[in-house]
Amino acid sequence: MSDTIRSYRHRRGRMGATTTAVLGRLGDRIVAVDGSPLDPTTLFSRAAPLVVEVGSGMGEATAAMAAADPGRNLLAVDVHLQGLGRLLRRIEEQGLTNVRVAEGDAVVLLRDMLPPDSVDEVRVFFPDPWPKSRHAKRRLVQQGFLDVVATRLRAGGMLHVATDWTPYAEQVAALVRRHPSYVVVQEGPRPASRPVTRFEQQGLDVGRASWDLLSRRV
Ligand SMILES: C[S@@+](CC[C@H](N)C(=O)[O-])C[C@H]1O[C@@H](n2cnc3c(N)ncnc32)[C@H](O)[C@@H]1O
Repeated sequence: MSDTIRSYRHRRGRMGATTTAVLGRLGDRIVAVDGSPLDPTTLFSRAAPLVVEVGSGMGEATAAMAAADPGRNLLAVDVHLQGLGRLLRRIEEQGLTNVRVAEGDAVVLLRDMLPPDSVDEVRVFFPDPWPKSRHAKRRLVQQGFLDVVATRLRAGGMLHVATDWTPYAEQVAALVRRHPSYVVVQEGPRPASRPVTRFEQQGLDVGRASWDLLSRRV
């Protein structure tokens, strides 16, 4: 993992009036990914198992999974402010109290801000596939990322990766299987616990199949 190769490209999209308004109203609730230590119990005003969703996009899976799992805290991180605004809207509309959002690089959040052994589950749903081989080095889930996640997950914690890009799936499966900190517990089609994400739906519409890998930190 390099500090100079980015797994994302900054996007500028048109932001709807409602999302702009929500960001004006609730934007100060967004955690800045600035490298300073973060205490999850303070952030959520309660001690509960912590789930981190990396690259939450527009936040539909985030909100649905948080609503179905009120006993755990869910911290969603993305570099895309518009998507975080959409997620804040969902949180407000659904009255969710167990979700927080962070803006910035998930690697910095995990590596520099969260305490070791503090995370119950890390989710990476449809990371940018970077399909061109000359861009493959920009894929988020690489050896270095798995190393960082292994230090933040508690023993017995889960890493859940989903992708619909077969070369990426093969890369992740190979890396996880030979990583001493993980044991694969499930591999295959989408588990019922994970809703179809927005990005996934776009792939399904053009015939791409999804693949999920759940691994336990030993
Ligand atoms: C292809 S989208 C998928 C979004 C969503 N999970 C879904 O399935 O609809 C990947 C997301 O990951 C975010 N992302 C990429 N690299 C990231 C990083 N290093 N830290 C935080 N977010 C990142 C992008 O901004 C984008 O929103």
